[in-house]
Amino acid sequence: MAVASESASSHSINNHKLVGKVAIVTGGASGIGEATARVFANEGARMVVIADIQDELGNQVAVSIGTDRCSFVHCDVANEDQVKHLVESTVNIYGHLDIMFSNAGVASSSKQTIIDLNFSGMDSLFEVNVRGMAACVKHAARAMVEKRVRGSIVCTASVAGSHGFPVATDYIMSKHAVVGLMRAASVQLAARGIRVNSVSPTALATPMLCKSLGMTSEQAREFCRKSARLEGVELKAEMVAKAVLFLASNDSEFITGQDLKVDGSLASS
Ligand SMILES: NC(=O)c1ccc[n+]([C@@H]2O[C@H](COP(=O)([O-])OP(=O)(O)OC[C@H]3O[C@@H](n4cnc5c(N)ncnc54)[C@H](O)[C@@H]3O)[C@@H](O)[C@H]2O)c1
Repeated sequence: MAVASESASSHSINNHKLVGKVAIVTGGASGIGEATARVFANEGARMVVIADIQDELGNQVAVSIGTDRCSFVHCDVANEDQVKHLVESTVNIYGHLDIMFSNAGVASSSKQTIIDLNFSGMDSLFEVNVRGMAACVKHAARAMVEKRVRGSIVCTASVAGSHGFPVATDYIMSKHAVVGLMRAASVQLAARGIRVNSVSPTALATPMLCKSLGMTSEQAREFCRKSARLEGVELKAEMVAKAVLFLASNDSEFITGQDLKVDGSLASS
């Protein structure tokens, strides 16, 4: 019996997709980032570093996952020095960086149709969604190159990275930029064995979406149901996390430069 249970447990450890990996998840205090941090830890990652501006929530998530497998670092991705420090401290403590999930993002501060585009709102959004995303890819890539790690970088784009919508012009522009960043970086880093991909969900009821729509979670879920053609399934953060896991792990070891849509066949396309 003892032998059987030992072999079952080593079989399950062997089946884990991220054994020994060191990962950073930006925006990991909530929504897609939180779900992904949990999936990474469950898949055997040695350490998942959550980076976010919500300190209390980020710490709570890290504690609930287990501080032996997950830690929290305050990092505003719009500030390059903070991103550099995040990556350098991770490498100093854990030896190297295998996975960067650059996910932190914000929604438009108002409707932002082109007719009424507010440029200061657009600048603030670009600081996080474009500049912040680029800073995370830059410093993760530097650390991977320096330590000769054939790592995986995954960015959160959106269906708004390949479609237009009636509102949120600045958000749509920013997510197109994320896809452009991913494509450029994937070509430039391929010779180092570093893969760069993005994941593009359709709408799902996270705190960001509820706040931007001014809806309760239940109202937002109803709104989201209409954004996909696929019947009988509702997009949850855990489903996006599984797509990120695929891109982060060796299951996708020959895949780079791809934007993986998690959109259940976008209803408006
Ligand atoms: N929810 C959706 O419908 C949807 C669809 C497609 C793409 N996305 C993208 O998914 C990503 C995650 O969003 P979510 O829906 O999980 O929302 P969320 O609000 O649940 O999570 C976003 C997290 O990012 C953090 N964050 C915001 N600005 C930051 C900054 N400057 N530095 C560090 N962290 C910061 C927030 O504190 C929060 O914890 C975003 O990039 C978003 O654009 C969301």
